[in-house]
Amino acid sequence: MGLRTSRVMHRSLRETPPKAVGGDGMWLVSEDGSRVLDASGGAAVSCLGHQHPRVLDAISRQASKLAYAHTGFFSSEPAEALAEHLVGHEPGGLAYAYFVSGGSEAIEAAIKLARQYFVESGQPQRQRFIARRQSYHGNTLGALAAGGNAWRREPYAPLLSQAFSHVTPAFAYHEMRDGESEADFVARLAGELEAEFQRLGPDTVAAFIAEPVVGATAGCVPAPEGYFRAISDICSRHGALLILDEIMCGMGRTGTLHAWEQEGIAPDIQTIAKGLGGGYQPIGAMLASADIIDTIRQGSGAFQHGHTYLAHPLACAAALEVQRIIGEERLLDQVKALGHHLERRLTERFGNHRHVGDIRGRGLFWAIELVADRASREPFDPALKLNQKIKAAAFESGLACYPAGGTVDGRSGDHVLLAPPYIATADDIDMIVDRLGHAVDDALKSIGHQGGTA
Ligand SMILES: Cc1ncc(COP(=O)(O)O)c(C=O)c1O
Repeated sequence: MGLRTSRVMHRSLRETPPKAVGGDGMWLVSEDGSRVLDASGGAAVSCLGHQHPRVLDAISRQASKLAYAHTGFFSSEPAEALAEHLVGHEPGGLAYAYFVSGGSEAIEAAIKLARQYFVESGQPQRQRFIARRQSYHGNTLGALAAGGNAWRREPYAPLLSQAFSHVTPAFAYHEMRDGESEADFVARLAGELEAEFQRLGPDTVAAFIAEPVVGATAGCVPAPEGYFRAISDICSRHGALLILDEIMCGMGRTGTLHAWEQEGIAPDIQTIAKGLGGGYQPIGAMLASADIIDTIRQGSGAFQHGHTYLAHPLACAAALEVQRIIGEERLLDQVKALGHHLERRLTERFGNHRHVGDIRGRGLFWAIELVADRASREPFDPALKLNQKIKAAAFESGLACYPAGGTVDGRSGDHVLLAPPYIATADDIDMIVDRLGHAVDDALKSIGHQGGTA
């Protein structure tokens, strides 16, 4: 990533990344011709890998018919078909789909829909939202207020709504106490949520928002058994909605189309994005229960929200084809089987690694967490920027993965997230783990630490 000049505001304002000029299944091609193995689909986006011919064809067929029509005047064939595909069978009671351009927009829509639902059902006092520390729900101001990542929130704190409060995440590696059983941990977290409802006044809470498997900010953290059932019970008891953010962990990433299917519960409102369109078009969606939408239909008759690019025909056409491929090619079976392989290989390579404290995940959604000391779980000094060094070392060796910092509390802690495309082979997984192993050890060496077994 050398210094170049560019008028594009890149993520780093000091460095211009190389241009990606091509893609081919599991591989990305850089401007210098080098091929990079995509082990994370960017940020868990490219679930079908790159340049899938069926998706490209679906986009071009739609583009040749109609690229855009404003939703204030028209619906479109791809939007209707995609909604039918996603919620025609009313999974978990979700019956309607609202199509937006990405994850943050989906979260904004979810927050506003929950609020409008209570305004129109005679409970306007419900104006509070409870979420969890260390969660990520997006970077627009509403989504950032819902999120619980300290670092991302800090500069914008004066602008963030006070309507959001945060409870402890279901993050066993850091939050479960010594000697505490998993059931006791769940009971403690449920007790904390109940106490938060009581503190706010139970009838002032509109919704609880959570990622079923926490992605970018904590590194593939599934909840302990029974957690979501306990949370869902508390919300129902108090008449609050449950909003599940499956923007990163949904659409098959964890081995079931929806991550909540593995928790024995269903949300009132769900957000999806990344794996919905697989990166072929920018698209996200909010899915909502019939009860919520029927209430508003019988009230004001319209969701008081909207964007110019709602239900964009090209985006919907791409997402529909991505979802059809996932179904027709039985890719969820592949995610489950390959996920076990990835878990096995990560455990072989890092299970006894001196500086890997935890290996966790589900399906094809796995992370390793780096620690300075395995016994105390003490993280590395964030000033060492270990996660960024791993990213650079991996990229150098032709591997794109998704390392991040702030794993523990938004400031310290390092993890590497893997989210390979569902079309990966066992050989691809082996190559990912092998290259990652070298990158981790090289990065540790660069900060004066040894890799190898504990
Ligand atoms: C769980 C979760 N919610 C929301 C978002 C925000 O999505 P977007 O970046 O598409 O706005 C993300 C993005 O990483 C996410 O992982």
